[in-house]
Amino acid sequence: MILDVTRPEHVRALVERIDSDPHRRPLRALVNNAGISVNAPAEALPLDEWRRLFDVNLFGHIAVTQALLPFLHQSHGRIVNISSVGGKVALPTYGAYAGATFALEAVSDSLRRELAPHGVQVVVVEPGAVRTEMADRGAATANDLAGRMSPEHQQRYGGLVKAIVAHSLAFTRTGLPADKAGAIVAEAATARRPRTRYTIGRDAALLTRLARILPDRMLDRIVAASLRTYVPEEGAPVRLTGRP
Ligand SMILES: NC(=O)c1ccc[n+]([C@@H]2O[C@H](COP(=O)([O-])OP(=O)(O)OC[C@H]3O[C@@H](n4cnc5c(N)ncnc54)[C@H](OP(=O)(O)O)[C@@H]3O)[C@@H](O)[C@H]2O)c1
Repeated sequence: MILDVTRPEHVRALVERIDSDPHRRPLRALVNNAGISVNAPAEALPLDEWRRLFDVNLFGHIAVTQALLPFLHQSHGRIVNISSVGGKVALPTYGAYAGATFALEAVSDSLRRELAPHGVQVVVVEPGAVRTEMADRGAATANDLAGRMSPEHQQRYGGLVKAIVAHSLAFTRTGLPADKAGAIVAEAATARRPRTRYTIGRDAALLTRLARILPDRMLDRIVAASLRTYVPEEGAPVRLTGRP
């Protein structure tokens, strides 16, 4: 069925559909997977775009979770929240995406602790690069938003947005095929004793670990170095660290 997670009437229709199914079996798992990618500097991203991203990537998941929890309580089922390595490390221009994803990580931790005594499990999946439509869609959105930036913002951030878009496209091209990622999501949804978190891809495993142990400034330098090769030669100047 068509389900826009930001539309309460769609979420209600989903509940009715499950409720009224004459062959209904227990609902074992909910996988919150919907997501959009927005790359724009925090200063230049209009507030309604911030809200749109949070509506899909965070509140949409919460809405569907609230709606389906009564079924999951009955079945002692499981919620799998698809997060991201962006829920552990926030690259420049990822303020909105990473903000919603960090929040999803925190909500998932809280929910896991609330629901464990009631027999409902909560699992987080943190993909790194996976070859899906996300990078192309994200690049189109980023370019569109960059085209709407003021001349001052263009001058300040134009080069950074180009570098991030090129980085994201290149990063995704080296990613895992979607079916491999899907197999890990299936494992998270069905394993008898699931872990609290699964990463997808070596990049995600490495980055989530580094984020835990490295000081912020060192992580800043690693992020800046990984973007440097994608900085356009001409056009807007790009400063990737605090140093002149
Ligand atoms: N690909 C990666 O490298 C990567 C890395 C880290 C995390 N992730 C996460 O993985 C999840 C899946 O992304 P993907 O890589 O498969 O990207 P994708 O190919 O762009 O797919 C995104 C999916 O989200 C759906 N969606 C978007 N807005 C929605 C809404 N309002 N209501 C319901 N569904 C909506 C889309 O449906 P339509 O096609 O109908 O628009 C599409 O099925 C996302 O949560 C993303 O943040 C992906």
